[in-house]
Amino acid sequence: MLIHRHGDIDILQIEDEAAAEPYFPSFIGVYQTIFSEPPYNELFYPSDAEAVLRRVLQTPGNISLLATKGPITVVGFGLAVPLSSRRDVARHMQGLLPIRHTFYLAELGVLSRYRGAGLGAQLVQRRLAAIPPGFSNVLLRTSATRNASYEMYLKLGFQDIGVYMEVPSRRTDGRITTDRRLFLSKVLTP
Ligand SMILES: CC(C)(COP(=O)(O)OP(=O)(O)OC[C@H]1O[C@@H](n2cnc3c(N)ncnc32)[C@H](O)[C@@H]1OP(=O)(O)O)[C@@H](O)C(=O)NCCC(=O)NCCS
Repeated sequence: MLIHRHGDIDILQIEDEAAAEPYFPSFIGVYQTIFSEPPYNELFYPSDAEAVLRRVLQTPGNISLLATKGPITVVGFGLAVPLSSRRDVARHMQGLLPIRHTFYLAELGVLSRYRGAGLGAQLVQRRLAAIPPGFSNVLLRTSATRNASYEMYLKLGFQDIGVYMEVPSRRTDGRITTDRRLFLSKVLTP
């Protein structure tokens, strides 16, 4: 379903795996490309990238946005799920956030040649707007290097809560290492 038009780019909300089927090949390439860049330097096999989107689409209440150009070309994505569905992340927020009333912005990426034109901010704001009533907080994690996305989230009203998490990943040089992620959160106003 088309939810927003950003110049010649459409932002689609994808309801289920069947609706996502035509976009998988393009999504996989975009996901691999974006996260192979610094500071992440992550190596995702096609099956890993595909599994990221399938897992989110299988999560009840997910908000899955794809930014597309033309019929099947993906140039960006923004995925979100209730935090209670992500136990690996939620355990870091015990006693800090109301887990069952918090939404988690799980993945965000825009292909480099489409950056700097407001698409990333749209993919955040459109997900926030799609969060159903009953959720009071939103959480995300970003690189602890405080890069461009950090600046973007602060501008969008997120707060640096000073909580970190080490995330192990396979890197483009084949090594498995951990990198530090920083949590940001925002109170949702009804
Ligand atoms: C983060 C990302 C999605 C931003 O996408 P984008 O389309 O360039 O974002 P926008 O054009 O909407 O920029 C929004 C704000 O981000 C900030 N920003 C964007 N690029 C920046 C840069 N290179 N340096 C500093 N700030 C920057 C600005 O504050 C900008 O606001 P402004 O337009 O009012 O100046 C994109 O850089 C990306 O895909 N990065 C790699 C993956 C990643 O880091 N994902 C986030 C993990 S949580």
